Amino acid sequence: MSGAKVLVVDAGGRGNAIADAFARSPLVDAVYVAPGNAGSEMMKKCRLATNDGRPLKSISELLSFAEREGIDLTFVGPEGYLSEGIVNVFREEGQRIVGPEKEAAILEGSKCLTKDFLKGIGVPVPPFSNFADPQEAKDYVIQFCDANPDKGLVIKADGLAAGKGSVVCSSLEESLSTIDRIMVNPRLFGDAGNRIDVEERLIGRELMFFAITDSRKVLPLESAMDYKQAFSPDDRVAIKLFNKLSGNPNPDNNPNTGGMGGFSPHPWLDESLKERIMKKIAVPTITGFKETTGHEFTGIIYFGLMITEDREPHVLEINVRLGDPETEVILPRLETDMYQLSEAVLDRGLGSVELQWSKDYCVGVCAISGRAIKPLSSGSEERPGYPGAHYTNMPISGMERVDPDVLVYHNGTAFGTDASGRKRLFTTGGRVLTLVGRGKTLESARDQAYENIKRIRFNGMRYRKDIGSGYV
Ligand code: AMP
Ligand code: GLY
Repeated sequence: MSGAKVLVVDAGGRGNAIADAFARSPLVDAVYVAPGNAGSEMMKKCRLATNDGRPLKSISELLSFAEREGIDLTFVGPEGYLSEGIVNVFREEGQRIVGPEKEAAILEGSKCLTKDFLKGIGVPVPPFSNFADPQEAKDYVIQFCDANPDKGLVIKADGLAAGKGSVVCSSLEESLSTIDRIMVNPRLFGDAGNRIDVEERLIGRELMFFAITDSRKVLPLESAMDYKQAFSPDDRVAIKLFNKLSGNPNPDNNPNTGGMGGFSPHPWLDESLKERIMKKIAVPTITGFKETTGHEFTGIIYFGLMITEDREPHVLEINVRLGDPETEVILPRLETDMYQLSEAVLDRGLGSVELQWSKDYCVGVCAISGRAIKPLSSGSEERPGYPGAHYTNMPISGMERVDPDVLVYHNGTAFGTDASGRKRLFTTGGRVLTLVGRGKTLESARDQAYENIKRIRFNGMRYRKDIGSGYV
């Protein structure tokens, strides 16, 4: 009997890492990735899923592909497709697909609803209030800051905003202007900002906790640290310049991104903390969701947690999928067969799965399209770079100089031809590449990632220099 065909739905580095994990399974013959990127074609057994050479984007195109190619199992990366109901559509047509249905994807699709739900079932969350009216939100913030001069606030757009919808504010003025910028003008995240969640800023240690569930059994996956802020906190000049070029009135705001790098495992997550997170957060969320809404949650659930000084975990956010770049540092450590694990989720067999992980550390550093002026074009403006406006279509060089044992996952790349007709790799997004170093210690993994990322170049390329520092 021939091996399985898998379809991975994802455009970025997470999709490369998921595809790579499936490709390691001896049960899998071919992994198709849609829409994918140049990296999806560069890994063993992996290729782009296309329709007559065109990338597949819509759910109906993806479904037709899966039916035509006889795909045995589909695994979905990003929240957008899940919120749109890709899992519902595929299941209605008899396709085997891993991920939550649309009704369960709401746990990521609405921060306001989710905070209400978690609070309602007793899962610890920061003190928060939800608002649909900007003036009411401002009145609340003024009162809050007056009564709590030592506390900060975090203002969050309710809907999906590619990981950029939360703004950590350090003053009343910043909170007020953030409310305006999300809800009134320029409505930074569009309709995602019709409502906001205003939260007390918790102080502590952040941890990204992942679990996989067939809705009956919830199994913890390995943890990761993700660096969400665009700049190292001490990179003040670059932060100011970014805000100036972005027209942001808050010069010291270090903007959130989808993630600038990360590492796994997380040295802070010991067995007792893991047990507490499972007992107080992960299991009650899955069971409570079914009890409260009547809908099951299956697939991956990701808790963004703040561990406060009293060692209590609080949920800052829930995502209904694997993280990017967390996946790039977690999945290379998975020793359990990814195909069998996915089958167990679909067959409600997770109860008999014991996950195996490598003890190695992985450190991933993202190379992003940073501040740049487009070369060789007159009159073009200086752009602040990701997560703000940035240039794409920049040729990438130096890939051949990367050590063969370093994993290079592509976030935003495509093949094209340069002026001399040579086939080359070009940038297509804000996040471009994630280089993953691996080692017996966090430090050795980190050294390997940084040593190699230096060999890559593209116009405006930037990366944080502090991924994995200060944890050992
Ligand atoms: P979120 O989109 O909710 O994950 O928030 C993005 C980032 O903002 C988190 O990774 C934290 O660094 C920060 N953040 C969000 N909510 C809070 C909070 N209540 N207290 C402190 N930091 C927060
Ligand atoms: N890295 C954060 C996320 O994937 O949401």
